[in-house]
Parts: sequence; structure tokens; C-alpha cells
Amino acid sequence: MPFEVAAEVVANRALSADYNVLSLAAPAIAATTQPGQFVMVKLRTGHDPLLRRPFSVFEILRSNDGIPTGITLLSKRIGQSTALIYDARPGQIAACLGPLGRPFTIVDPPTEAWMVAGGVGLAPFATLAEALRARKVKSTLFYGARSGRELFYLDPFRALGVELVLTTEDGSTGERGRVVAPLDRMLAARAASAPVMVYACGPEGMLAATAKTAAKYSRPCQVSVERIMGCGMGGCYSCVVPMLGDDGKFHHVRSCIAGPVLPAAQIRWD
Ligand SMILES: Cc1cc2nc3c(=O)[nH]c(=O)nc-3n(C[C@H](O)[C@H](O)[C@H](O)COP(=O)(O)OP(=O)(O)OC[C@H]3O[C@@H](n4cnc5c(N)ncnc54)[C@H](O)[C@@H]3O)c2cc1C
Ligand code: FES
Repeated sequence: MPFEVAAEVVANRALSADYNVLSLAAPAIAATTQPGQFVMVKLRTGHDPLLRRPFSVFEILRSNDGIPTGITLLSKRIGQSTALIYDARPGQIAACLGPLGRPFTIVDPPTEAWMVAGGVGLAPFATLAEALRARKVKSTLFYGARSGRELFYLDPFRALGVELVLTTEDGSTGERGRVVAPLDRMLAARAASAPVMVYACGPEGMLAATAKTAAKYSRPCQVSVERIMGCGMGGCYSCVVPMLGDDGKFHHVRSCIAGPVLPAAQIRWD
């Protein structure tokens, strides 16, 4: 059951001219969020912007005793709501509804977890990496961005024992090019008998390429899709994705309730 919370902004850290991490006091949401779930957030009261926007829960904040106190959002400024999130000040109140949606299915050893993140698609993987660590699952993060200046939070992932494979489009950090290239190479080099679960979040083109690559090597793949969401609760149908049903036909499913995490092999990507 999601919680409707008037969440106080407790911190706002700019990571770059476009990216920030917003910390919200929201104990009930923090205590119940599973990796891959999201919240619907709006910073300003009134009708402009009218609708809340969806954001993955990036981190769970905890007190010194380990009690969940809040959540953070990793946000990339692209329009009005994300600009308000970028400029938010401590003490402001955000209308925050969550946790929402279906989380990732978390594997157990000996299956390895290979997470594939493009840009702000890193957001759901911090909580997933923590959950994988708790289960002692060997994890790798393939993380691509336009430049090295847009690769964030590398040390927290390293501290969780996650192996990093970095790519940038300008070649400033890691391998030059798209993140799916090393994924393809490493899947090709891996024995078919060694189980891997691929998890992906990022721009739709990257998700489609990751899904295709996972399918090429017969590996299961869960993708977190980012459709425009009006309500986040199944009421508006703004977020539909064509999915292959049990009847062998494609049906439009609402990604806010059937997802955002969906089995890549069942999605029609064209
Ligand atoms: C489940 C889910 C989780 C998300 N998690 C995050 C996150 O952790 N961090 C983050 O920064 N963003 C995340 N997003 C995307 C985020 O919701 C949008 O960036 C946000 O709604 C934009 O709001 P805005 O008012 O700033 O921009 P708007 O003014 O609403 O839009 C600006 C432009 O971006 C386009 N756009 C808006 N939403 C999307 C979208 N979802 N996909 C592609 N294009 C879009 C619009 O068509 C428009 O052209 C997530 C989306 C979903 C569905
Ligand atoms: S966002 Fe309204 S139905 Fe999915």
C-alpha cells in the first residue's frame, strides 16, 4: 500500500549543472520501498505543474540506529518539475506518494547480477546493489554516460563490492562508446553454464539494445522502463507498454502497475 506523505526536503546536493540528489524525510516510504520502486513527487502546491512526476527511489536514508528516515532521488533537470527539484531548498515540502510499482526480482548466488545503467538510469541500482550485497550476489555495474563528469556515485558502488565497467561517449572515462558494447563482449566470453541476470535502466534505445544483447546470449533480463506517467497508480493509461501476453498476442500494459520493472523478452521494442 503506498503512503501519501508531505515530505520535508532535508538536503539537496548538486552533482553537476543538471544532476542533483534530493533528500526527503519520508520514514514510512523508506521503510517499505523495494529496489526498483518509484515515488510520484511534486514540489510546488497549486496547478503549475499540475501533475506529479515519477522518480526511482535512489537511496534509503537511515538514522545512526539503522532506522529508515527518508529517501533520496537522483534527478536530471529536463523540464519544469526537475528544475524545481534541482532548485529545492531544505524546509520545502514535497507531495510524495509511494512506494509504487513492481520492484526488481532479486537473484541469489550462484547467479551473478549485471546491472546496466545509462545516465540517470543509475537511480534504481543503488538500492538493488545493497540488496544484492546482503544476499552475497556477485555484482557488476555497466554504467554509461556522455562524459566522465556525468558518472556519479562510483565509490558507494565500489564500497558495496560492485565491479564497475564504465563507458563514456566522449571517451573521457572508461571505454569510448555505448555501454552495451562491453556488455556484449563480456556475455560472449561467459560460459553458458554460468548464470547471469541482466538488469537495465536508462533511455529506451539503450534498454532495447540491452534486451537484444541479453536475448542473443539467452540471458534473462529485467528492464525498468521510463514512460511518461500521469498518475502512477493505473488510472490514466499514459504509461502503456506493448507486452507479449500468455495468449501469444501483444497487449498494452500500464507500466506504473505492471512495471516499471518488466521482463525485457516480452516487450515489443519497435
Ligand atoms: C518509473 C520512472 C522512474 C523515473 N526515475 C527517474 C529518476 O530517478 N531520476 C530522473 O531524473 N528521472 C526519472 N524519471 C523520469 C522523470 O519522471 C522525468 O524526467 C520527469 O517526469 C520530467 O519532468 P519535468 O517536469 O522536469 O519535464 P517535462 O516538462 O514534463 O518534460 C520535459 C521533456 O521530457 C520529456 N519527458 C518527460 N518525462 C519523460 C520520461 N519519463 N521519459 C522520456 N521523456 C520524458 C517530455 O516529453 C518533454 O519533452 C523516471 C520516470 C519513470 C517513469
Ligand atoms: S501512470 Fe497513470 S496509468 Fe500508469
